[in-house]
Amino acid sequence: MAAEEKPILEIKHLNKTFNIDGKQVEILKNINIDIKRGEFITIVGHSGCGKSTLLKIIAGLVNYSDGEVIRNGRPVKGPDTDCGMVFQEHRLLPWLKIKDNIGFGLDRRNRKNWEERVQRQIELVRLGGFENAYPSQLSGGMSQRAAIARGLAADPDILLLDEPLGALDALTRVQMQKEILRIWHDKGTTMIMVTHDIDEAIFLATRVVVMSARPGEIKEIIEIRNSNARIRGSADFTYYKNKVYNHFFEDEKVDIDYNI
Ligand SMILES: Nc1ncnc2c1ncn2[C@@H]1O[C@H](COP(=O)(O)OP(=O)(O)OP(=O)(O)O)[C@@H](O)[C@H]1O
Ligand SMILES: [Mg+2]
Repeated sequence: MAAEEKPILEIKHLNKTFNIDGKQVEILKNINIDIKRGEFITIVGHSGCGKSTLLKIIAGLVNYSDGEVIRNGRPVKGPDTDCGMVFQEHRLLPWLKIKDNIGFGLDRRNRKNWEERVQRQIELVRLGGFENAYPSQLSGGMSQRAAIARGLAADPDILLLDEPLGALDALTRVQMQKEILRIWHDKGTTMIMVTHDIDEAIFLATRVVVMSARPGEIKEIIEIRNSNARIRGSADFTYYKNKVYNHFFEDEKVDIDYNI
């Protein structure tokens, strides 16, 4: 039997404190998770529980207090091209054309090679025809797609997405969820995405990580085992939705007099 592949990301006993107003505040507490190559992890939890901090630690943008974070077999010491990040706001540079935004971090010494790589990302997120547009000329959904293309441009093994769809209207959001799923399927990139939207978390994930309020601890990791769970309104979808909801809300049946 082939030896099981090593996880692409190993987080062991991770703790993080921040110094806020002279006090050490515990933000993340004893986070433990191994993530396999090709998984799609979504993270849900209250505002302020440390989700963005966790992504930044994985990306090497924020250091951690203690524990271990091992990406691709090596302890994380700083940012690297094997891990891309898409921030909540798209952070496109307004003075650069879309293709230059997407190819910003890529080596330009071989111009032809640079153009080809950028064009591949543009096709992937279906922005063909807008290569020379400026960010102000794109809709919100298109800007988010450009930001995703930029995150994928260096062909990272892991893409971290911090509420990438938070600013979109409900219809565009559902459309973008399908796009993200398609990209994940086509490229096989390991995805770790923070979202406040429980439907979205279930629709996209192979596993949903539910976090407690600050200090953020992992309360449950819910494995989505059945592709019917991706059909909104199906019994499986509702089953998983209730499982996540139960962590946040009591049974909220409200008696209403409908004969008013
Ligand atoms: N650089 C920093 N210095 C000090 N405290 C910080 C810093 N970054 C974040 N924090 C604190 O850490 C806590 C967690 O912040 P974080 O941004 O990770 O939360 P979050 O779960 O992403 O919240 P939200 O859902 O609102 O985006 C907050 O209390 C915040 O004030
Ligand atoms: Mg956040």
